Amino acid sequence: MSMLDIIAAAVTPTESDQARREARSKAQAVAGANDWLSMVLDHHMQVEAAFGAVKAARDIRSRVAAQKRLGIVLTGHSNAEESVLYPALARADEKGHAGTAYSEQAAAKTQMAALENLDPMSAEYADKLEHIRGAVAHHMYEEEGTWFLELQQKTPAAEQAKLTQRYKEEFDRYVGSEAREESNRAYKSGT
Ligand SMILES: [Fe+2]
Repeated sequence: MSMLDIIAAAVTPTESDQARREARSKAQAVAGANDWLSMVLDHHMQVEAAFGAVKAARDIRSRVAAQKRLGIVLTGHSNAEESVLYPALARADEKGHAGTAYSEQAAAKTQMAALENLDPMSAEYADKLEHIRGAVAHHMYEEEGTWFLELQQKTPAAEQAKLTQRYKEEFDRYVGSEAREESNRAYKSGT
């Protein structure tokens, strides 16, 4: 673990799995059919499954392929949030939360790039992967439990429809149809 990892681990609070489940159920209960929040929740579950697939891979080839799938869904999802949802959060008088969201995702992108330089079957890789997974899980908990509920409550319905359209456009722009289908297949099969 690098010094940066140690500092990040020290300042990242860890909520329980139970707290995460409750936050997700609450967010699912207020999400509409196919709105931006329901897409976000779907993408969060795809991200979780993609992390699981990287960890479960038993050889270099399948681990590298799983890491590539994880990178596609994680980058597509975070780019769409950074382009559409965090600016909306800032407009809704939540600049502090928007700033935290941007910096946490910048840290995750930096760590994902560092992961690519490690031997995929090494202990160092497994450590870093677990560290990123934990940081991303905490970030998703903050979004589902607080930030995106604030965004939904404070944003008029007409603007929410625009957020839905823009979020989808940005996600699709990065996660092309081929990659999206591959990611969905992996998510559904649990591989
Ligand atoms: Fe997210």
